[in-house]
Amino acid sequence: MSENRSGGPAASTDATTASASPECADTLGKDDAVQDEALMQQALDAAILGVRGANPLVGAMLVSEAGDVLSIGHHRGAGTHHAERDALERFRRDHPGGSDLGTATLYSTLEPCRHQGRQPACTELIIDAGVGRVVHGASDPSSNGGGAEVLRRAGIDVVSGVLAQQCQALNHRWVTAANQSRPFVTAHLAQTMDGRIAAEDGTSQWITSKAARDHTHQVRSRADAILVGTNTVAVDDPRLTARTPSGELSLRQPLRVVMGMTPVRPGLQLTQGLPEGDGWVQLRTRDPLTALQELAQTTHGGYPVKHVLVEGGQSVLSAFFAADLVDEVFAYQAPLLLGTGRGSVGDIGVRTLSEAPRFALDPAEGGPVQIMDSDVCVHLQPKGDTCSPES
Ligand SMILES: NC(=O)c1ccc[n+]([C@@H]2O[C@H](COP(=O)([O-])OP(=O)(O)OC[C@H]3O[C@@H](n4cnc5c(N)ncnc54)[C@H](OP(=O)(O)O)[C@@H]3O)[C@@H](O)[C@H]2O)c1
Repeated sequence: MSENRSGGPAASTDATTASASPECADTLGKDDAVQDEALMQQALDAAILGVRGANPLVGAMLVSEAGDVLSIGHHRGAGTHHAERDALERFRRDHPGGSDLGTATLYSTLEPCRHQGRQPACTELIIDAGVGRVVHGASDPSSNGGGAEVLRRAGIDVVSGVLAQQCQALNHRWVTAANQSRPFVTAHLAQTMDGRIAAEDGTSQWITSKAARDHTHQVRSRADAILVGTNTVAVDDPRLTARTPSGELSLRQPLRVVMGMTPVRPGLQLTQGLPEGDGWVQLRTRDPLTALQELAQTTHGGYPVKHVLVEGGQSVLSAFFAADLVDEVFAYQAPLLLGTGRGSVGDIGVRTLSEAPRFALDPAEGGPVQIMDSDVCVHLQPKGDTCSPES
């Protein structure tokens, strides 16, 4: 266990309060506060390089007492190193001789977790590394919260709430999902220029280019579950597997989920000849929140389902949008017109423009707009508080 730099009791500072109340100015020098905010902004810029899903976007940075950046880390999705560990390991890799971190500060956009899950608790790693000071942005609203207190008790100088609003806004829909005890939902729209996902005769393979479909497979491979409606299963007989660009099965396969009341016909590809419960399930409901809450109670590969990719068709996608249960959208726009056929989204209860749900460009994961062969992939999230680290 480390002690803080002065060897005395760890200071406990809330930067949000500090910037608002003059009496806190003695606790946190103005220059320190400005420097902390500038460095937290860099951690936010790192966070946005990650991917959304089961876990929040998090950036972390180790900075020397002189203000030099020693290493920058970010979280790359569920099952991978947390941002704090990424920053600590990068530091060790770049400084093989080791170096005393007792005078260094670790910046993290989110309160370090104190929970051992797929990854070790960040609080333990920080304490073991002997980091003298930790500055974090948002508090962790999940059951992993309370890490700041653990660090303080270990004698580390902890400053909480630096750029808290921006850090919270970065993951505003992840917090919504956590508060609703449901998985994070990504919606997939592979559509024509006129917003259609199938022609009049039901054909829909393929509207988008191979590059766009490869991207969908990447998203599938990191989701815990893929969900489609009973009609898509009946019409398209999809495999619902995650595959590499060369067609091999990806290492990680999501749970295959069918939503709706019509029984799944035996012999359909998604069952792979296996009984229900073995790699695939049917959720016998038309209510999206019920479906998600059921999934939250389901384990797949030994872990609870925390990230669902909703791939369609129109009825199911519309139900999720209408219930405000979509947290992220990948809209693949292909350069063809159908004129008739099935729209990607149907009636979602909007009767006048002011009722339309609005979305914001999402700068995470490669930026808000990517060209994929002939298609454009637009990455969006529901408009909430400001969500871009630049804002
Ligand atoms: N371009 C693409 O990427 C893409 C992706 C997927 C699908 N598609 C196309 O989309 C078409 C299928 O769309 P779809 O809208 O007919 O089918 P769908 O959304 O896949 O399934 C509709 C069925 O789901 C059930 N369901 C479950 N929850 C529901 C809810 N809240 N509201 C309404 N229905 C609910 C209902 O059946 P029950 O009676 O069984 O409950 C309903 O008939 C196909 O042509 C397919 O090829 C295209």
